[in-house]
Amino acid sequence: MTKKTILITGGAGFIGSHVVRLFVTKYPDYKIVNLDKLTYAGNLQNITDIENAPNYVFEKGDIVDANFVNELFEKYHFDSVIHLAAESHVDRSITNPMEFVMTNIVGTVNLLNTAKNAWKADLNKGFEDKLFYHVSTDEVYGSLHNPEEFFLETTAYDPQSPYSAAKASSDHFVRAYHNTYKMPVVISNCSNNYGENQFPEKLIPLFINNIQTNKALPVYGKGENVRDWLYVQDHARAIDDVFHKGKNGETYNIGGFNEWKNLDLVLLLCKIMDKKLGRPQGTSEKLISYVTDRAGHDLRYAIDAKKIMNELGWQPSLQFEEGLEKTIDWYLSNEKWLNDVTSGEYQKYYEIQYLDN
Ligand code: NAD
Ligand code: TYD
Repeated sequence: MTKKTILITGGAGFIGSHVVRLFVTKYPDYKIVNLDKLTYAGNLQNITDIENAPNYVFEKGDIVDANFVNELFEKYHFDSVIHLAAESHVDRSITNPMEFVMTNIVGTVNLLNTAKNAWKADLNKGFEDKLFYHVSTDEVYGSLHNPEEFFLETTAYDPQSPYSAAKASSDHFVRAYHNTYKMPVVISNCSNNYGENQFPEKLIPLFINNIQTNKALPVYGKGENVRDWLYVQDHARAIDDVFHKGKNGETYNIGGFNEWKNLDLVLLLCKIMDKKLGRPQGTSEKLISYVTDRAGHDLRYAIDAKKIMNELGWQPSLQFEEGLEKTIDWYLSNEKWLNDVTSGEYQKYYEIQYLDN
């Protein structure tokens, strides 16, 4: 195994923490530097199990800060970057788009630029053995209306929310650096993730928490929107495959062919939660409350993941119901984690998002 020093950004967040854990434990010869600003979504409690590993370092900082990022490259001489840091919640992008422009666009370009300058400066090697891996979302492709259609790697970008527009822009910059400067890059676009450590602003952990605490379940519109769900550790394994086996300049769509209408998903969640909490079947369903639809709400996302399956041999490992049970069990047995992240700032967010309308 070649030794590598890898910068992982956003490694204290939901998906990043699973990626950091996988790389730190599976590749003891790699040095993993986790750069995270620790916004409301970043939580070092997500990775306490690996914080003392000899091949792991945490650096708190902002990807938008050019001097800081430059100093980090000078300090560690990274071979590769796996870039996950982002503002990631569509509802927050509707109330505060500028933060998404700063982190998702300016932050990504800043990382690209620093990597280019640092790698180009190594006159002996240049871009040899270097890789900038940009982790993106299927939301850049927009909204599907024809049930026969899926997002392919060749689907034209058509982002509809400030979040997806900012991610689309960052994807374009990554390709521009590949095309213009010949920087070695890979991009992956994944469907909706669920699993342990997801911040309870996203549908599944929000509803698990609300069911447990007997709060209303705010279903946007009629609950007819469709999302394609993938277990977070399957995404982390896909990132491992793309990082090690992906072809320079290529894009890989990641998804588990697992589409669910929001209302059907919520009903399944209620059923499992009633069973786990020992409540009579039908109890949690009564908490469903139809609320004003999200502005510009994308109707359907669905990934065609055949390329990564056929070319890199990746497969999802869990069936959805199994993954959902595992996720619910994790939230029910990690009450402290949930209490910690839902105190303070979260209360203000919750009031503005759900109680002020
Ligand atoms: P998250 O919001 O849980 O975590 C984001 C992390 O980035 C946090 O730890 C936060 O502190 C950090 N961060 C934010 N701004 C930063 C900055 N300026 N500098 C340094 N760190 C900063 O997000 P997530 O759900 O784990 O998503 C990770 C990545 O995967 C994102 O790029 C997202 O677009 C992409 N993605 C997410 C999903 C999903 O379903 N959650 C699906 C596909 C792709
Ligand atoms: P979310 O988890 O925010 O992911 P994304 O918008 O990136 O797909 O939302 C998943 C779906 O659930 C989406 O169609 C919006 C819907 N939703 C609700 O109905 N109510 C809620 O409170 C939230 C957060 C989401």
